Amino acid sequence: MPPTLTTLISEELIAERVAELAVEIDRDHGDTGELVLIGVLKGSFMFLADLARRLTTPHRVEFIAVSSYGDRESEDPGAVRLILDVRHDIGGRHVLMVEDIVDTGHTLSYLVRLLKARLPASLKTCTLLRKPDRSQVDVAIDYLGFDIPDVWVVGYGLDYNQLYRNLPYLAVIDPDQV
Ligand code: PRP
Repeated sequence: MPPTLTTLISEELIAERVAELAVEIDRDHGDTGELVLIGVLKGSFMFLADLARRLTTPHRVEFIAVSSYGDRESEDPGAVRLILDVRHDIGGRHVLMVEDIVDTGHTLSYLVRLLKARLPASLKTCTLLRKPDRSQVDVAIDYLGFDIPDVWVVGYGLDYNQLYRNLPYLAVIDPDQV
């Protein structure tokens, strides 16, 4: 039997919030000019695609991917490893990192450190979702879509065992059912 999916944030609400975030980002970058959006794969692909379509600020698109060692075998549960880097140098450029979700904060914190060392003109962060109850690392989020409770969320780019990323809305899945 397929697991029960309970809508957490509807397609309409997501679209509304994405449009608001784009207005904020455009407003903040009116004077700085060109941006580089860096999507963190895989989860951010849908959010980035919708956000990019809403932005009027000229921007390039890059992707980066990391893998977390967040398993029992790891000595450091927050350890993150870079598995795909951006294709172009970001030195001197205005960068906006785009995430689907900030959970413990380890991934974003690692990426901020990594990219800051490349001396961008500015570096800001944007995430659609954040789970405040799960936070382990303090990391600045410049643009936030929604704070959500500590539940397993799928859809709109987020997966459970690599499935459900294609749902156009965000849903809670019961991990006991899958
Ligand atoms: C998720 C999400 C973030 C990260 C957040 O990625 O996309 O990158 O976890 O977790 P953290 O704040 O605890 O570090 P995931 O590892 O599920 O990979 P995916 O994006 O490919 O699904």
